[in-house]
Amino acid sequence: MLIRPRRNRKNAAIRSMVEETKLGAENLIYPIFLQDGKGVKTEIKSLPNNFRWSIDTLLPEVEKCLSLGINNYVLFPAIQEELKDKIASHSYASDNFYLDVIRTLKQEFPEIVLMSDVAMDPYSSDGHDGLVQDGKILNDETLPILAKMAIAQAQAGIDIIGPSDMMDGRVGYIREALDKELFTDVSIMSYSVKYASAFYGPFRDALDSAPKSGDKKTYQMNPANRREALLEAELDLKEGADMLMVKPALCYLDVIAALKEKFTAPITAYNVSGECAMVYAASQNGWLNYEATMSEMLLSIRRAGADGILTYFAKDFATLLKK
Ligand code: PBG
Repeated sequence: MLIRPRRNRKNAAIRSMVEETKLGAENLIYPIFLQDGKGVKTEIKSLPNNFRWSIDTLLPEVEKCLSLGINNYVLFPAIQEELKDKIASHSYASDNFYLDVIRTLKQEFPEIVLMSDVAMDPYSSDGHDGLVQDGKILNDETLPILAKMAIAQAQAGIDIIGPSDMMDGRVGYIREALDKELFTDVSIMSYSVKYASAFYGPFRDALDSAPKSGDKKTYQMNPANRREALLEAELDLKEGADMLMVKPALCYLDVIAALKEKFTAPITAYNVSGECAMVYAASQNGWLNYEATMSEMLLSIRRAGADGILTYFAKDFATLLKK
């Protein structure tokens, strides 16, 4: 045999030298669930090791994560039922605690990068990402609401706006609204390719944000489609998105690779709640090794082409890297 690929795997140093994919804490974006109040640290049942935090309990946690090298965070609010309405008005209300959390984090940790989620669902009494009328999700009528939400977040000091609603034209609409208010430095990381996935369950548990009726299939994409992903990505770039996201990540590695190949913008991927919950559950049962499975999963998302990865594993993976 002239060619023996195993020679390049014969010891750790050689394996490391020829390693094609590197993944560091700088690639991670940590999703954080927030709740109004004081002293809150409530574990999410279907997402062990992840919590709903109030600002006072969150500060020391963020300090710890920063020391592990995690600089990027995405924030999700759990909103009390009585503050929800059909038009998600609390999302841009001046007493929305979410905006206070942004202000406080930026003040305490000026070096931090904060990303928001822009969609109506946590604030909507219908539990949908857009405005609901007679069972339909209205597109154009939703856009001004999303823009108000984005402006409020920009005023609070957000670095990156993350529209996750999948309404047509929302990136351009939000970009224009931001620029008009002179927030030209605020970035947009668009949830460009977001599928109507069964893997969002634990997230909706965490925020009590499941749709009250119907599903999200008229706006989120059909998991069967890949060419359509290119259309969504192209539109978002034309409308001014700085970065594109594919969500979920694991079942859609081919889509991540396709976007990376076709576009020059940075690509991120959302390793969603259900994907992480599978690993937590199997490892709690002793069926899979937690650290090894988590690492392989994140590495594969990076190998497929993701520059950034939103993942509930961020802290555990960064801790592992430090070891
Ligand atoms: C809301 C939103 C969802 C997620 C992120 N933003 C849920 C949904 O679309 O129903 C899911 C993230 C996860 O499962 O980790 N627009």
